[in-house]
Amino acid sequence: MKREVTLQANKRNFVGRVASLALIVAAALSLPVPSSAAQAADLPKLVQKNGRHALMVDGAPFLMLGVQVNNSSNYPSQMPKVWPAVKALGANTVEVPVAWEQIEPVEGQFDFSYLDLLIRQARQNDVKLVILWFATWKNNGPQYAPEWVKLDNKRFPRLINAKGEVKNSLSPHFRSTLEADKKAFVALMRHIKAVDADHTVIMVQPENETGAYSAVRDYSPTAQKLFQGPVPAELVRALGKKPGTWSQVFGKDADEFFYAWSIGRFVDEVAAAGKRELDLPMYVNAALRDPFNDQDPFTYSSGGPTWNVLDVWKAAAPSIDVLAPDIYMRESAKVRKTAEQYGRADNALMVPEIGSDKAYARFLYDILGAQGIGFAPFGLDYGGYSNYPLGAKAVDAQAIENFAVHYRLLAPMQREWAKLSFEGKVWGVGEADDSKAETLDLGGRWTARISYGEWQFGSIEAPWMAKAEKQPNREVPDGGALIAQLSPNEFLVTGYRARVTFGSAKGERFMVSRVEEGHFENGKWVFDRLWNGDQVDYGLNLTTLPQVLKVKLATY
Ligand code: DGJ
Repeated sequence: MKREVTLQANKRNFVGRVASLALIVAAALSLPVPSSAAQAADLPKLVQKNGRHALMVDGAPFLMLGVQVNNSSNYPSQMPKVWPAVKALGANTVEVPVAWEQIEPVEGQFDFSYLDLLIRQARQNDVKLVILWFATWKNNGPQYAPEWVKLDNKRFPRLINAKGEVKNSLSPHFRSTLEADKKAFVALMRHIKAVDADHTVIMVQPENETGAYSAVRDYSPTAQKLFQGPVPAELVRALGKKPGTWSQVFGKDADEFFYAWSIGRFVDEVAAAGKRELDLPMYVNAALRDPFNDQDPFTYSSGGPTWNVLDVWKAAAPSIDVLAPDIYMRESAKVRKTAEQYGRADNALMVPEIGSDKAYARFLYDILGAQGIGFAPFGLDYGGYSNYPLGAKAVDAQAIENFAVHYRLLAPMQREWAKLSFEGKVWGVGEADDSKAETLDLGGRWTARISYGEWQFGSIEAPWMAKAEKQPNREVPDGGALIAQLSPNEFLVTGYRARVTFGSAKGERFMVSRVEEGHFENGKWVFDRLWNGDQVDYGLNLTTLPQVLKVKLATY
C-alpha cells in the first residue's frame, strides 16, 4: 500500500516535471501555454441521447453563442479588429479560418505561428475556437489551397463538366489531392493537440461549403468510370435500395447523389485522419438549396450536404458529427424548414453561419427552440468588410449590438440552457415575417402564445386600446421567446420584445400561480423578485432588458 502511494507520488512528480518543462518550452517558443487545470480537461464531444444532442465542453453541455470572422481575417494583423467585435457581441466561441496556403505555403513545410497566436489570444479573451479548414473546397473552389496545389492541374485535377470543359473546382476523384489535403490536415490536428491541452479549440470544420456551382458533378474519365460502376454497397444498404449502377439506383438524382457521395467520402477520409490525431467534434457546412422546392443543381453547390442528400452524406462521412446549414435566407418560413431538415435524431442542429443583418438575429430563438447547439452570425468583425446583400450593409457597432442583445440574455445561462435542451423539453420561436402571434403547444397540457408589438399594459387587440400608438421600432422583426420545461407545471421563460401568455390546452381553469424573476450565477438560480399585478395581468412582457422568469402554472 505504502509502496503504491510512493509510486504514485513519484509519478505525480514526474508528470509535474514534464508539465513544467512543457511550460518552459512553450514560453520559449511563445506557444500558447496550457493552464495546469487544463491538463486534465475533457475532450469536447458531441453526445446524443433519445434523439437530443449536446456539445460537451469541459465535461458539460455547452451552448455555442458564436461568431464567424470574415474570410481574410485569419492573420495576426487582423486580430485587433476581431477581438473588440467579439467582446461587444458577447460571443463565447469564435470561428476562424486556418487556410491550407497559410500553413503549408511550400509543400512539406508547415507554419503554425498564426494558429499559436490565435489560440493564445482566444484564451486571453476567454473564448473557445472553432477552426475552419479552408483547403480543397472553399465555396466550391480551391482558392485557399497553396499555389503548388491550385496551379498544378496535372497533379491536382479540376473537375470537367458534361461539355468537357475544365472548371475551377477540384475533383474529389484523385488520390493525389486527397493525400495532400489529408497530410496538411493531419499536421494541423497534431499541432492543435500539441499546444491546446485545455481544448480552447472545441470543434473543427474540414473544408468549407463543398460542392460545385459549375457542374452537377465531375465528368472526367476517372469520374465516368466510377459513375458507370455499381453504387457502393454501404450506400445501397444505408438507403435501403436495390444494387445497381448510379443511374439504375437513383434515376434523375444519380449525378448529384454520386457527387455528394464522392465529396463525402473524400471529406470523411480527411476528417478521420485528423481525428486519429485529436478526436475533436467535426462538422461540415452547407451552401443551402431552397428548403421547399426542387432546384436546378446548377444554381447551388451540387454535391455539398444540401437537404436532399443528407442521407448520402451521413452514409459517406461517418466521421463527420454534424451536417450544418449556412443560413442566408431571410424568410422565417425557410429558416424554420431548414431547422427541421437539419435537426434530426442523427444530426444535431448547428448553424455555423447566418447573415449578419438584423433580420437574422431573431432566428436564434427558432434555432434554440429546435434544440440547436450553436449559432454564429457571419463576418462580424471590424475588418471593414460587409457581405451585403447577404448580410448587413455595414458591420459597425449597431450591427453587432443587434445580435449582442440576445447573447446578453443567454450568455449567463448558456450552460443551463444547453443542459435543459439536452435533458428536457425546450421550445422557442423568433418573430415571424408577418409579426403575427403564434401559439406553442408545450407538450399537451399547456400552451404559450407569443405575441409581438404589444405595449406592456393592455392588449393591442382590445377595442379600448384602439387609440394607442403602434409600438415604434418594429419595422424589422426582432422579437423572440424561449421556454424550457422544469417540471410538469413549471417553465423557464426568457426572450426579447415579446409577450408570453400561457394557456390551458384542454380548457382547464388555471392561473399563473407564481412568476419569479431571477438570474443564474455559477450555475445556481438566484431569486430577484416576484412579478405580479400589472407585470402579469396582460401576459409576461419580455422587453429589451435581459429577463429570465420561472413560471408556475396551476389549476383551481
Ligand atoms: C458562405 C461561406 O461559407 C463564407 O465563407 C462566406 O464566403 C459567405 N458565404 C459569404 O460572405
